[in-house]
Amino acid sequence: MKPVEYGLEKIFDGAQDFLPLMGTDYVEFYVGNALQAAHYYKAAFGFQSLAYAGLETGMTDRTSYVVVQDKIRIVLTSSLHSDSPIAQHVQKHGDGVKVIALWVEDARKAWEETTSRGAISFMEPIIEKDELGVVVRSGIHTYGDTVHVFVERKNYNGAFLPGFQSWKTDYNPPVVGLRYIDHMVGNVGWGEMNAWVKWYEDVMGFVNFLSFDDKTIHTEYSALMSKVMSNGNGRIKFPINEPAKGKKKSQIEEYLDFYEGPGCQHIAVATQDILSTVTALRERGVEFLSAPPSSYYEEIPQRLGKHMNMLKEDISELHKLGILVDADEEGYLLQIFTKPIENRPTLFFEIIQRMGAKGFGAGNFKALFESIEREQERRGTL
Ligand code: FE2
Repeated sequence: MKPVEYGLEKIFDGAQDFLPLMGTDYVEFYVGNALQAAHYYKAAFGFQSLAYAGLETGMTDRTSYVVVQDKIRIVLTSSLHSDSPIAQHVQKHGDGVKVIALWVEDARKAWEETTSRGAISFMEPIIEKDELGVVVRSGIHTYGDTVHVFVERKNYNGAFLPGFQSWKTDYNPPVVGLRYIDHMVGNVGWGEMNAWVKWYEDVMGFVNFLSFDDKTIHTEYSALMSKVMSNGNGRIKFPINEPAKGKKKSQIEEYLDFYEGPGCQHIAVATQDILSTVTALRERGVEFLSAPPSSYYEEIPQRLGKHMNMLKEDISELHKLGILVDADEEGYLLQIFTKPIENRPTLFFEIIQRMGAKGFGAGNFKALFESIEREQERRGTL
């Protein structure tokens, strides 16, 4: 299954497209129990069974289940032995994102371009084959123990990658309308944000197209800073966060404490109908951060300004589901955040519907962080 082709036009001046990146290929989590995690993503988030690798397919050190929803592929991998980098990753970080895989035309060239610009190699280019074709992959390290794997699959027609077999089951809950990954956010340590911004500029050719300092992103108690990096065609967007000093503990610091280092904080997935997507997710047991107070919804007309007449959704419906609204020059967006989906307060998902807006919901930061702080308070980590 290949992601759908769409234009490769450059939308950000200053970006260099020496890779270039055509989209997110897959996201691989290292987890304690891949079998059960795959069931969760199917039951709760509407993912579909796609592919499997394990003892039955000749994979002796790990089990991987691949689930898919439209263009989003998630790989859930567990070690079959205690003494492996996968098991060590889970022991240190808990369940979390190991690989943010990027779809490229030429994985050898992507590896050469990035390592020659200073990236540390994670995986030299390897050629994997089966009767359905050839895939070339290579990889580099990014923040923490997270890596980027470059995937070249133009000569492959199998379910996922060589070594995987199609995964068919009788349990196939319907999709909830998740379409593609809009952005993936990395949390890095104190004072490290700018070094990673420079890394994405120098090594990957990205541009910094939005920045939020701790004066923008703060509440009475806690603060953070964020810079959004994008590749030239805008398909890959990686905001990078670092904690900032506040009266109490930043949510980023809480993440770093529990993940025991930098890592992926959230995955934002796009829908074209957030009301039906969030209704379905709630029915299936996905828990979201609590809704902001009623005054937030009363202020939506001022918040949207000139875009208010574009708003197709009923404000009372948004309120009922706890969906947040923000606007920029070009339009508005609707978004909502899940509670952390692992045992540790680390990774969460964002559901986003863009109605022209290109931002990240800066106008919601305060309402959102107050909601996160209520959760931190309950965890005793504020
Ligand atoms: Fe986000």
